[in-house]
Amino acid sequence: MLVHRPPVGALTALLSALILAPLAQAQAGAWEQCGGSGWAGATTCISGYTCVYSNEWYSQCLLASTTTTTTKAATTTTTTTAAASTASRTSTPSGCLTVRGSGTKSGEYSTIAAALTALGSTTTSKCIFIYSGTYSEKLTINYGGPLTIYGYTTNTGSYTSNAVTITQTQSSAQAGSLDASSTVNIVSANFKAYNINFVNGYGAGAQAVAVTANGNKQGYYGCSFKGYQDTLYAKSGLQYYSNCYIEGAVDYIFGKAAAWFGECIIASNGGGYITANSRETSSDTSWYVFDHSTITAASGASVVGKVYLGRPWRVLARVIYQNSVLTNVVNAAGWTTMADGATPIFQEYNNSGAGSDTSKRHAYFTAATSAVSKNTLWGSDWQSWVDTSY
Ligand SMILES: *[C@@H]1O[C@H](CO)[C@@H](O)[C@H](O)[C@H]1NC(C)=O
Repeated sequence: MLVHRPPVGALTALLSALILAPLAQAQAGAWEQCGGSGWAGATTCISGYTCVYSNEWYSQCLLASTTTTTTKAATTTTTTTAAASTASRTSTPSGCLTVRGSGTKSGEYSTIAAALTALGSTTTSKCIFIYSGTYSEKLTINYGGPLTIYGYTTNTGSYTSNAVTITQTQSSAQAGSLDASSTVNIVSANFKAYNINFVNGYGAGAQAVAVTANGNKQGYYGCSFKGYQDTLYAKSGLQYYSNCYIEGAVDYIFGKAAAWFGECIIASNGGGYITANSRETSSDTSWYVFDHSTITAASGASVVGKVYLGRPWRVLARVIYQNSVLTNVVNAAGWTTMADGATPIFQEYNNSGAGSDTSKRHAYFTAATSAVSKNTLWGSDWQSWVDTSY
């Protein structure tokens, strides 16, 4: 777990540094960066907080009373970070099919679609490795057994070195439905994707899905999802998104899955709404949990104060942001309306950053008294399908 977090911690730190730089703060605030490798900002914390180094977050200002057991030396942090950035997956793991779009060799597939067809109709566990390239394909993944898809990368712990992109540009109106517009529509259970960029390049103006995740026990590790409206349809089942990048403007994470977004970057490329959860009944297990993630602007987007954390697509929508950095892109109201007569459960817990102040939140907001755990979200057997090295 620790091996994979420092890159995101580093990115979070970089984002915080960029955002805080104009304020020329002499002291770092609660849970803000206060040191570590390459850090040039404030190194002392506000009153009551102490700067603590950790492998997980580089450094943070933590409540003085909570620091005794977590302190680690700064040198340890630097060493761990260097090791993590070298993890690569640049050739086909044993037993996997190979996709190579350019310079395809004997026994390999030139398209991802051809490799998916070659899986056949068995239910044994299978895997596919994809070499670097942009694959202009539109795919449905409906394999009957466990399936893992790996993209070429020199850093398995993050999306930042991904070299495989799957892209197309259909909108929902053109394709006939949200699912049909998806660049990749995944209806398989027990599916994992590592280090793949998923893009729907339609742009602004219509719903256009990059990925429909419509199956139980799906995991996405170091993946990137880019679109504008309705980027990621987290539609049903238990799902894990770890160290991912998710970009869009309007309802760009939506649907009815029980999904955990851990150590992710959630980046708005226009004003709008991050989530549109569609939980409908009180027995429905749907819940979007954002944990140790960063809510920010996509590169070049001017969205300060223009982003809402969510709106209820269906009446009992349920979303929590916890232990995360909410930058100044977040509107002071936080949440807004959608379904008539909605009584959503929209919560926030232990977040930091300029957008985390909950004093002016919409009436939909309720404070949480503790963080949600993976056990609570998924039940106690989640380690049987989650890659716990992330
Ligand atoms: C609050 O979030 C920070 C940042 O992730 C974390 O280090 C800290 O342990 C959390 N505190 C509580 C009380 O959960």
